[in-house]
Amino acid sequence: MLKTRFTELMGIEHPIVQGGMQWVARAELAAGVSNGGGLGIMTALTQPTPDDLIKEVARCRTMTDKPFGVNLTILPSLRPIPHKEYAQAIIDSGVKIVETAGNNPGEFIDMFKAAGIKVVHKCTAVRHALTAQRLGVDAISIDGFECAGHVGEDDITNQILIPLAVDALDIPVIGSGGFGEGRQLAAALALGAEGVNMGTRFMATKEAPIHDKVKQRLVDAGERDSLLIMRALRNTSRVFRNEVAEEVARIEKEKGLNFKIEDVAHLVAGARGRHVYDDGDSEQGMWSAGMVAGVIHDVPSCKELIERIVSDAEAVIKGRLQSLVA
Ligand SMILES: Cc1cc2nc3c(=O)[nH]c(=O)nc-3n(C[C@H](O)[C@H](O)[C@H](O)COP(=O)(O)O)c2cc1C
Repeated sequence: MLKTRFTELMGIEHPIVQGGMQWVARAELAAGVSNGGGLGIMTALTQPTPDDLIKEVARCRTMTDKPFGVNLTILPSLRPIPHKEYAQAIIDSGVKIVETAGNNPGEFIDMFKAAGIKVVHKCTAVRHALTAQRLGVDAISIDGFECAGHVGEDDITNQILIPLAVDALDIPVIGSGGFGEGRQLAAALALGAEGVNMGTRFMATKEAPIHDKVKQRLVDAGERDSLLIMRALRNTSRVFRNEVAEEVARIEKEKGLNFKIEDVAHLVAGARGRHVYDDGDSEQGMWSAGMVAGVIHDVPSCKELIERIVSDAEAVIKGRLQSLVA
């Protein structure tokens, strides 16, 4: 058993979190992760309305009696999103853990704190983590350049980001991005993290509510099968390398400084990406995925995956690392 400040703070068994994932992180996945002893997180904006989110939280409660959380992503989007109403729905649902991400969570922190909610803020830079700590969040999930989705604009990998964040912050830090195996969890703990957050790895689990063909695509993929888009707009995102993503990257390069979101809106529309998960055609739209695909070789249940990662990490710490100390 790996006990850390993060497991104590959240009241969970294992130091493994499943980060919010648009269209993927629904009740089934969050409950699967929490039942496996990790921290499952549903994504608020996957639900069409704040009322639907309240229903989804209730549905999750019928599947687990363990702690789980809700992700609130605050990003610029093509359609306006009522973030405050979603935040209120989170409070009304009775959930006690929130993952904020995408932008400064300032305007929501007081609401969440007043409702007794613990906030984990996910960000890609130490300076943003320091701001979030000052605003009163309880923990930081630091997202390295390896991560799926919004990687930020600094391109700093976890090998550097985790130790710097741990040194700069007083609150617990978990490493996010590129994690999927026990030896990587051991490495994160060695760097000073109190656990890891995983996205892509949890897509390839039995409980993930996406088409089996997408899970298999991740099993078949290697570490070079992601690419960055939207750098020109300073909204850089790591997505699965397929024909649509390659086309977006090509247009972005061709337009250079004149690139606008309108140039690729037809390719990056959320609905197109969503169909990938429903129909299993991993080429027809864009979907987030990280470099960690290179170390994904199977589709276990969440519980099997979490227990394997924890026992492998323990074996590395007690075996190989211990044996190296003269
Ligand atoms: C399909 C997918 C969708 C995601 N959607 C969101 C999201 O809506 N909000 C968010 O904060 N992070 C999102 N993420 C990022 C994850 O929560 C997590 O930070 C990231 O996947 C970590 O990197 P990894 O995939 O290498 O584990 C998404 C990731 C994936 C793979």
